[in-house]
Amino acid sequence: MKGKKLLSILMTTVMLSAVATGCSKPAPTTTTPSGGANDTKTGEVVKLVYARGQDTTGATNEIVKQFNEAHKGKIEVTFAEMPSDSGKQHDQYVTVFNGKGTDYDVFDADVIWPAEFAQAGYALPLDKFVEKDGINMKDYMKGPVQALTFKGQLWGMPKFIDAGLLFYRKDLVTNVPATWDDLIAQAKSLKGNTGSGYSYIMQAKQYEGLVCNATEFISAYGGKVVDGDGNITINSPETKKGLEVMKSIVKSDFVPNNVTTFTEPESDTAFIEGKAAFLRNWPYQWAESQDASKSKVVDKVGVAPLPKGSVASAAALGGWVTMINKYSKHPNEAWEFLKFMTGADGQKITAVKGGSAPTLLSVYNDSEVQKNPLFGNKDFVAGLSAAVSRPVSPIYPKLSDIMQVEISKYLAGSQDVDTTIKNMDTKMKEAVTAAK
Ligand code: GLC
Repeated sequence: MKGKKLLSILMTTVMLSAVATGCSKPAPTTTTPSGGANDTKTGEVVKLVYARGQDTTGATNEIVKQFNEAHKGKIEVTFAEMPSDSGKQHDQYVTVFNGKGTDYDVFDADVIWPAEFAQAGYALPLDKFVEKDGINMKDYMKGPVQALTFKGQLWGMPKFIDAGLLFYRKDLVTNVPATWDDLIAQAKSLKGNTGSGYSYIMQAKQYEGLVCNATEFISAYGGKVVDGDGNITINSPETKKGLEVMKSIVKSDFVPNNVTTFTEPESDTAFIEGKAAFLRNWPYQWAESQDASKSKVVDKVGVAPLPKGSVASAAALGGWVTMINKYSKHPNEAWEFLKFMTGADGQKITAVKGGSAPTLLSVYNDSEVQKNPLFGNKDFVAGLSAAVSRPVSPIYPKLSDIMQVEISKYLAGSQDVDTTIKNMDTKMKEAVTAAK
C-alpha cells in the first residue's frame, strides 16, 4: 500500500455530516461512580450483559473471557450478539432503551449514534469515571472523541475507528486500480477468473452501509452531502456524477447479481471464499482474510485506498464506541468492563484478533499490532488520527434514512438520478429545519 497516498485520502475524506441542531437538554442523571466498587452486597457476583453486533473474528469472546477471568467471583459479563446491520442494531437498542429496559448494561454504538442516544437519555455520561481513573482523552484519536462529546459531556469511550478500503487479490491483480474507471475496466476483464462470474463486491443493500458506499462515490466526484456549516449541499452535478458511477457498477455484470442484498458479512464471506478480485470493506477484512480456519485467500490479499473519482479518493469514516445504559443497575461494574475493553489490553485484542483499527494511539506501538500491514503503516495511522468526525447530531439517523430510501429507489430503477437528488435535498432540508 502506498502510505502517502492513503494519508491524503483520509485527510480529504468527506462523509455524510449532519447538523448539530439546537435541541433540548439531555435528561439529567444522578449516578456517580463509586470507585469501581461492587454495587451489590459483598460476595455477590454482578452479572452484566454486553451487547454488540455479530463478531465473526472471535475478538469479543476473547475480551469477555479475559475480563471474566480477571474478575472471577466479582463480575461476570455475558455477550449478547446483536444484528450486524448497524440500522437494525440501532432500532433494537432504541426499543429497549425507550422502555427503560435493563437488558444490556454496556453496548457498542456506531459513531453516528452518541448524540442521539445522549439526547434521548439512553446513556450515562462518563466524565466522572474518566476523571476518577485519570484517563487522558488526548491519548485517543480526536475524531471518535469528538463524536462522543455532546452538550459538553462524554457519552462513551472510543473503541475502534473504520475507513473504507479496497481489498484486492494479489494473485489476480497486477496493477492496483488508481481510479474508478481503472477498477471498472479491470473488474470487467477479471470476472471470468474468479469462478463466481463476478469480480467486485460492495455493500448496496438499503441500510447504513449503502450511505457509506454512496458517500464515497459522491465525494470522489467532488460532491458534498453537507457543508461545514451544516447546510445540505447534496444537490449538485458532482453528486449526480458520483451516483451515476455507483449505479453503473451496481448494474454491471461484474458484481454479484444480488449485490443490492449485500452488507458487510455477505461481502466478507464471498471474498474469503475466493469469489472476487476486489472488495470494498472496512479494515477488519484483513484479519478475516488471514484467518486460515475459514479463509481461502490467506496471503493473497492486498489493501489499498479506494480508487479516485474525477476529484479525489474518498473513504467513509466509521467506527464504534462503547456506552453504558443509563438504567443499568451496575454502572460501576459496567464501567470496569468498558474501561478494560477500550483500554490498551482490550484494544490490542480488537486489533490483533478483530483486525479493527485502535483509537488509543499507544496501541499502534505494539509489535503484534504492527504485524497488520495497515496498523504498521505510519501514514495510515496518521490519516486516521487526523480524521475529523462528522458533526455530532441527534438527527443523523433521519438524514441517513432519507439517503438510504432514495438511493435504493434509484439503484432499483424506480426513479431517475435527478428525482433522487431532488428528493434527498428537499427531505433532508426539511429534517434539518424541523430539528431547529
Ligand atoms: C461499519 C462502520 C460504521 C458504519 C457501518 C455501516 O461498522 O464502523 O461506522 O456505519 O459499517 O455498515
